[in-house]
Amino acid sequence: MKKLHLITLVVLLLSFNSFAQDSKSIYATMSLSDALELKKDLPDEVEILEKRRNEAAVFFTDHAGHYLHDKVLVHGPGYIFKNSEEDAIAALYKEAKEIPANKMAFTITEDALVNPALDLINTQNIEDHILELESYGTRYHAYPIAIDVANDLKDKWEAMAVQYGRSDVSVRLFNHVNTNMPSVIMTIEGAETPDEFVVVGGHLDSTSSNNNNAPGADDDASGIATMTESVRALFELGFVPNRTIEIMAYAAEEIGLVGSAEIAEEYADNDVDVISVVQFDMTNYNGSAIDVSFITDYTNGTLNSFLMELIDHYNADGIHEITYGTSLCNYGCSDHASWTSEGYMASFPFEANFGQHNGNIHSPGDTFSVSGTANHAAKFSKLCTEYLIESAKSSLLSVDDALVNSVSVITQNGQLIYNLEAAAIDFTSVILYDIQGKKVLETPITSKNGSVSTQSFTKGIYIATFIVDTNTSVSKKLIIK
Ligand code: BES
Ligand code: ZN
Repeated sequence: MKKLHLITLVVLLLSFNSFAQDSKSIYATMSLSDALELKKDLPDEVEILEKRRNEAAVFFTDHAGHYLHDKVLVHGPGYIFKNSEEDAIAALYKEAKEIPANKMAFTITEDALVNPALDLINTQNIEDHILELESYGTRYHAYPIAIDVANDLKDKWEAMAVQYGRSDVSVRLFNHVNTNMPSVIMTIEGAETPDEFVVVGGHLDSTSSNNNNAPGADDDASGIATMTESVRALFELGFVPNRTIEIMAYAAEEIGLVGSAEIAEEYADNDVDVISVVQFDMTNYNGSAIDVSFITDYTNGTLNSFLMELIDHYNADGIHEITYGTSLCNYGCSDHASWTSEGYMASFPFEANFGQHNGNIHSPGDTFSVSGTANHAAKFSKLCTEYLIESAKSSLLSVDDALVNSVSVITQNGQLIYNLEAAAIDFTSVILYDIQGKKVLETPITSKNGSVSTQSFTKGIYIATFIVDTNTSVSKKLIIK
């Protein structure tokens, strides 16, 4: 009897070792039910290291990893890659950090900037970005082309910053340990509190049942395109944030959130004060009656509510209308989960209710032609813009104080009277916004002294924005009595 036990032990050890030595074996966490199912299907290739609540730390072969992906081609049972057994088990015991109340103070105050920004979102630009990313054929993280993809995006984002004359913007590659593909990060330096960060992200890599043919138009060229157009609109508006904004295009999401996990971990290790993070992964497939479905698991409830309030406030009706609901992803299914597990507030506004999303993802069929337009993604671009402006807030430091002080403007007897003589530069036009941020008047300015009739406007508070060029403007609050 004893001997039999010993033999069993030796056989067990040997068989375990044979896959433990496979350098490509993977440590990960996944939902407990997926882990149990995987273990049942491939008992010799999977070891459940530890279970806790509805999650498990798992060690499995590379083959089992592919099997997982192929099993349910669309939204396969996901796993989150971990560096070691210790890391995998530790992840199960990581408790959510208490987020201080002052960090939860989300306000909506920037109507005068957000409303004009929404008008600038250009659907064609989003389509162009998606098609450009799709045209690589594959962005699979392990292929050399994935490095080109990251470099090209860096170049594109840098060119945008140059085009709009933004010396406060920089773009860098973030190199990783567990993939050769780098992530790309654009930083718009905050003018007042640069140590506070507001982040949006999406993943730049793609995958497919045949990784040589992985167009990944919706998953996730759409997210990268959505954010790129939001940022362009912010630049066109001349928006300078108080807080630092970062736009992240993550590497190697499709193999278990690898890129975002390394970034979120580094930020947490360095105590980077990230206020909140919003993930854009799959934005261009209109599969549900509602436009945006907020994923409520592995996300932060307060941040989710804030995004819903933004939509209530800015997109209740009219040409910018957005409708929304909620659903579950059932697992940490995208990069927001990397931030959540480091104790940061993260949200994931998704293209449809879970289950009604694009069924072509992770296949050669994930092309732009499935949607045919970028109308759906444009809604996410608007949400992204609202989130960035309202979380980072606008800075008046975009123009120097001397310029602000040189603009004098009052309203009197139904007239807006301006005097710009003290300013060394010429203004081209004045725009009047009402308190809701609606443009009520736009007039070219030809002399430094003049007046504009406001007779037909209702009494109340307005913002007069004097435009110098696309990067420079001065805004003053006014009361029409
Ligand atoms: N974009 C998907 C996530 C997704 C797919 C969300 C379908 C909702 C519906 C993402 O790129 C992905 O494929 N995630 C993996 C898990 C990840 C941890 C590797 C998944 O969902 O299988
Ligand atoms: Zn995917």
